[in-house]
Amino acid sequence: MSNQGKIIVAIDGHSSCGKSTMAKWLARQVGYIYVDTGAMYRTITLFAMRNGLITSDAKIDQDGLKEALDKAEISFTLDPDTNLPLACLNGEVVEKEIRGMEVSSLVSPIAALPFVREKLTVQQKAMGEKKGIVMDGRDIGTAVFPQAELKVFVTASAEVRARRRFLELQEKGEQNLDFDEILKNVQERDYIDSHREMNPLRQADDARVLDNSDLTIDEQNQLLLKMFNETIQNSEELIVESGEVSNL
Ligand code: DC
Repeated sequence: MSNQGKIIVAIDGHSSCGKSTMAKWLARQVGYIYVDTGAMYRTITLFAMRNGLITSDAKIDQDGLKEALDKAEISFTLDPDTNLPLACLNGEVVEKEIRGMEVSSLVSPIAALPFVREKLTVQQKAMGEKKGIVMDGRDIGTAVFPQAELKVFVTASAEVRARRRFLELQEKGEQNLDFDEILKNVQERDYIDSHREMNPLRQADDARVLDNSDLTIDEQNQLLLKMFNETIQNSEELIVESGEVSNL
């Protein structure tokens, strides 16, 4: 299929703010590829856990992880039922493992390591070479695709996000859930993600803000689709005005 007229959509924001839900929905709606970069950081975290390179209190064997990282091959495979991407570690689907509380509580310090970010950023940039992609994460509009045609910064209050995460985990059948612990985890992750040295979470200057604290899923999806359509329309008008043939 031609990539003429296709754009890059970069969606960033805090954890558990519904980025992935809307990014997935938009990708399906407009026939783009969807990439969840959080899943990639989570998969590296699982790799570190399985290889004894991180302890449960987040002590990381950085030299060991750096050396072993070449052996962690991260990819996605499409779920035949939903057609959505599932994260794989060395060919094994690890979608369930990377969504649990253990990985969630260890992923931020792993994602703060510059050598981990470098490896994943290179892979993410390559995935967007042909455009036609919706990628969500923390640094997509600032570091991975600073040239993205549409950048959206999604946010919602920490309490709203913790409540959503609680319900999501409950639905997945996780036992002994403690709301305060989940809220603390959300706040801690916000802090680490926004204060790390390399590519911290921040709103790109040219990003559009989408606060979904008081929006339903359908409302937020429609707002995102509106932003997408406006961006496509503006790009097309620019091409017509300048008379240029662009590979936008
Ligand atoms: O979106 P998520 O909760 O699955 O992300 C998991 C962690 O990975 C989170 O602590 C932030 C980090 N992350 C990141 O640093 N950069 C990205 N592009 C995506 C996620």
